[in-house]
Amino acid sequence: MDVPRKKITIVGAGHVGATTAQHCVEKRLGDVVLIDIVEGVPQGKALDMMESAPLLGFDMIVSGTNDYADTANSDVVVITAGLPRKPGMSREDLRDTNANIVKEVTENIIKHSPNCIMIVVSNPVDTMTYVAMKTSGLPKNRILGMAGVLDAARFRHFISDELKVSHLDVHATVMGLHGTDMVPLPSHSSVAGIPITELISKEKIDKMVQRTRDGGAEIVKLLKTGSAYYAPGASVAEGIESIIRDKKRVHPCPVYLEGEYGLDGIFMGVPCIIGADGVEKIIELKLNDEERALLQKSAESVRNSVKQLKV
Ligand code: LAC
Repeated sequence: MDVPRKKITIVGAGHVGATTAQHCVEKRLGDVVLIDIVEGVPQGKALDMMESAPLLGFDMIVSGTNDYADTANSDVVVITAGLPRKPGMSREDLRDTNANIVKEVTENIIKHSPNCIMIVVSNPVDTMTYVAMKTSGLPKNRILGMAGVLDAARFRHFISDELKVSHLDVHATVMGLHGTDMVPLPSHSSVAGIPITELISKEKIDKMVQRTRDGGAEIVKLLKTGSAYYAPGASVAEGIESIIRDKKRVHPCPVYLEGEYGLDGIFMGVPCIIGADGVEKIIELKLNDEERALLQKSAESVRNSVKQLKV
């Protein structure tokens, strides 16, 4: 029986948007519409990707457009629109500019795809997901941010590199906001089921935790002209795959909290089951007092950011 193809719209044909699009078609998740305000760029990148299809062997369609009408009836919409960081900038420095962009984009998207599941990637992501929810009116299970998957992938890489063990056998949990007050959790990170606290010294773990928190800035500093996109693109594609294939993977994502972890009315990264209905369940991990305090601090930073919004 033929399963109808899914439609994925990616707003923003920059590095993160285009990398995500390429992963989506290579994973055969659905047809992709890449939309951007810059004329020619989404069309050019889409054509370039289509010309890789005969070589890479995918049969999905990527198209580029500047017209929101072409995004109609998307199943999943990813918002990457907005400015990336430059060296020395924090994600918060992007807040006001990106909030206006995310608001406008969301208004346009929701007109044409009122039943989509929306994934927000623009930074500061916890705050931008809040803006998109308020603008779209989407129910809380249909809107999430994408950050914790990336942060956990970074932490996993550092653990794998330290222990010289396959990335596939490393599990890491990262909660909290996607920024300085991020909360990587060594107590919930393991290799083949063995907690990393039994395998790596505290001193080294502390360094890895800090490197994870600074993971985005480390890349920005090296690139000088923008922020990371290979790992972010792969993280977003993993989230889209969980939704489209109803995989029910556990991903740490900024989602709307209503009492979980004692937090209310904000988006912030927590582990969730992601499937065809979007955010299907929030998982409440047992945290010790120190971890809870870090999570509260993270939530406070998100609240401050939202309070300062001008949109
Ligand atoms: C990063 C950006 C995408 O962490 O937030 O690389």
